[in-house]
Amino acid sequence: MNARLPVVTLDGPAGVGKTTLARHMAESLAWAYLDTGAMFRCLALKLGPDAELLPEADLRDRCAGWTFSIMGKGRAAALYCNGRPVGDEVRAEEVGMLAARIATVPAVREVLKTAQRKMGEAAPLVAEGRDMGLVVFPDAKFKFFLDAASEVRAKRRRRELEQRGEQVDPALLTEQILRRDDMDRNRVTAPLRPAEDALLVDTSRLNIDEVLAVMLRHIDEHGGARSLSEGTIMLNKAKQHG
Ligand code: DC
Repeated sequence: MNARLPVVTLDGPAGVGKTTLARHMAESLAWAYLDTGAMFRCLALKLGPDAELLPEADLRDRCAGWTFSIMGKGRAAALYCNGRPVGDEVRAEEVGMLAARIATVPAVREVLKTAQRKMGEAAPLVAEGRDMGLVVFPDAKFKFFLDAASEVRAKRRRRELEQRGEQVDPALLTEQILRRDDMDRNRVTAPLRPAEDALLVDTSRLNIDEVLAVMLRHIDEHGGARSLSEGTIMLNKAKQHG
């Protein structure tokens, strides 16, 4: 991994607001942002239901030739898979569930980890997902772990889906989010967990602007965005912020 290019990591469970925050943060820093959930979703959609039940070697072969790249910076950064933009078709909650299932397969995680690190070598990155700080970019200078009560997250996800014109059954959505939480937190490989040196932010009572302000202030207090390129910052152990 090329440690010279700076990375900020944002990890946390479904519906916590990572994608919006990563976009805003990338905009503030004028960097690219990487939505790694979209990579798992894209793969899950292409491989189809029950793909996680296939022999692991077959899955590895099927994923091996895939390429991912990011075009553009800040809020406008867009993920491409095999040369095509990854669109809204991956955003449905059902695809999120397929993604959580395929994400339990170590060979799939390996293929995507390699692709994620490659993108981290190509441009300064705000990377969001589940294992960015702990597994994929352990040397990142700034790591954030966002969390919120499950009912708050279900409400946020519902708003997001409804804004895109999708019909949502609130009870079903809450159940899907809890099931996904359970899978993401309890899988054997790279379970959802904060890195020791991540700043924990409980976003239950904060809006996007307030969370962004907490994160940017933290970066500022520890040397500012310039220090990200210079690589001089050592963060304290995780501290709770709420
Ligand atoms: O962030 P998201 O909801 O788009 O992610 C969809 C699923 O992909 C998530 O439930 C688990 C998986 N995922 C993962 O295992 N590791 C990541 N870094 C990102 C997503």
